[in-house]
Amino acid sequence: MPQDIYDRIMMVAKRRGFIYPSFEIYGGIAGFYDYGPLGSQLKNNLENLWRRFFVLHDKCVEISTPTITLYEVLAASGHVEEFTDLTVDCLKCQRSYKVEDIIDKGLSVEQAMNEDNIRCPTCHASLHDAHPVNLMFSTSIGAGDGRKAFLRPETAQGIFTNFHLLYQFNRKKLPFGVVQIGRGYRNEISPRQGTIRQREFSMAEAEIFFDPQDKTHPLFPTVQDKELFLFDNINELKMSVADAVKKKVINNQALAYYMYLTQEFLLQAGVNPKKFRFRKHAADELAHYATECWDAELHSERFGWVECVGIADRSAYDLNAHIVSSSVDMYALRPFDEPKEITTKKIIPKMNVLGPRFGSTAGKIKEQLETLHPSTAKKITVTVDGEPLEIPKECYDIVDVTEKQSGEKFVPHVIEPSFGIDRILYFVLEHNFVEDKKKEEEYTVLRLTPKMAPIKAGVFPLISNEQLIRLARDIDDTIRKHGIETYYDESGTIGRRYARMDEIGTPFCVTVDHDSLSDHRVTVRDRDTTKQERINIDDVASLLKTKLSL
Ligand code: ATP
Ligand code: GLY
Repeated sequence: MPQDIYDRIMMVAKRRGFIYPSFEIYGGIAGFYDYGPLGSQLKNNLENLWRRFFVLHDKCVEISTPTITLYEVLAASGHVEEFTDLTVDCLKCQRSYKVEDIIDKGLSVEQAMNEDNIRCPTCHASLHDAHPVNLMFSTSIGAGDGRKAFLRPETAQGIFTNFHLLYQFNRKKLPFGVVQIGRGYRNEISPRQGTIRQREFSMAEAEIFFDPQDKTHPLFPTVQDKELFLFDNINELKMSVADAVKKKVINNQALAYYMYLTQEFLLQAGVNPKKFRFRKHAADELAHYATECWDAELHSERFGWVECVGIADRSAYDLNAHIVSSSVDMYALRPFDEPKEITTKKIIPKMNVLGPRFGSTAGKIKEQLETLHPSTAKKITVTVDGEPLEIPKECYDIVDVTEKQSGEKFVPHVIEPSFGIDRILYFVLEHNFVEDKKKEEEYTVLRLTPKMAPIKAGVFPLISNEQLIRLARDIDDTIRKHGIETYYDESGTIGRRYARMDEIGTPFCVTVDHDSLSDHRVTVRDRDTTKQERINIDDVASLLKTKLSL
């Protein structure tokens, strides 16, 4: 296959320490990639920019939860049943394929299978018997018959399972957002899209909890006149955030607000606005938990339009599921203007039955029963010392109790922007990869925004002279003391050194020459204009800070 842009980027990425195929000395395996020194720094920069949007600006709080997740959590969330890809196996060459990847575009999976016309892309044998395959990696915790578990397919469940504690942390006020950046794992069926489809990847997810009666955002007025790039699967529409909500293209203000925040983040990360759009999910492609979903898609010369962010309205799906399954009170309270007398159903534990039946654990069971909501009372399970216990009906009564109440309970709704960091990182590379075809040698410039660039400034002595080297090293130290990443280089021609910095996206180079020794000035070169200016050595760090907007 002739080299396309993806191959050329991956060649530079490997040579210059951005991305390496994992385990390459043992032959490697599809779907796993390492970030080298520059790739890791670029990824940190991308994640930190994301934090600026979601933590600093939007005031979400960040948490961190285990990547190994109990079976019970993912059974409740629906992933055990539903997190599947329809797959076909070739009986002749033994390869497996995700059906969606090998059918003609425009044909539904059912049509393709019914018409009996899918063939193995490798050996052309006819393929039959599509079946769902779960994408989660399973494991077990502890030796022998340990507890069943999975590597998490999304970071979101770690947030949902802590909702009641986070609600308390937020002084029981809605809306509030919680974010998590971390690894997700999906055992993708024969991934063939390089870094776009990995089996272990980094996600940045925000779960924003709302009162379903008030799906607005306090900052909505600040974005309502801004423009969104929308695609409804037929037409591309440019529309203001407010119009999109008014015309019901987007269902509520909160969802529209987070779409705009996502668009701003992607553009600031350096995505090409002409290769960016939001595409609405058709009803038949919605995930099992979503009522509405928009994908931020980016366009690649090799892969076409690729989903990089999914922004879903998950409604009350997950919290409801965990309330039913764990019996823990994960409701929020909508305060009344004044306390009201309200009659509700309550569970009243019968200690005279619980005591003889459960002995010393009866007290703990009573405490849990008293916190439960009777709507979940068809079959009550409580968890005592990590063990689930089913509590039979004769152990409690459900009675009407009239009490003064300060508010009513409800299950919050969730808007979720879910970002795939690795896909965005690849697009930041592709959209900023500029090849200069006029030069005789292969010459590429990576036009990363200053915030994304792993190295902010190259520092060079013009020639390998002891005095120039000493001064250049001093300047390099000073710049680094100001918190700016530099790369000191004294080898090769100055043109070659500029080229090396251009290739990795370094926005500025500082060069010390003979005149610097007498006039105390150095040359600062701008990557994108290649213009050079001479400035006083004492001003270098502050000038870079200003130019880099640090
Ligand atoms: P696709 O349809 O491409 O499989 P998806 O719909 O399964 O993606 P989501 O479940 O919405 O993706 O996941 C949220 C985000 O995580 C995606 O927008 C994407 O950026 C990222 N992502 C999902 N799967 C992968 C993967 N295998 N490798 C890298 N990133 C991924
Ligand atoms: N958390 C969203 C997703 O995994 O798609």
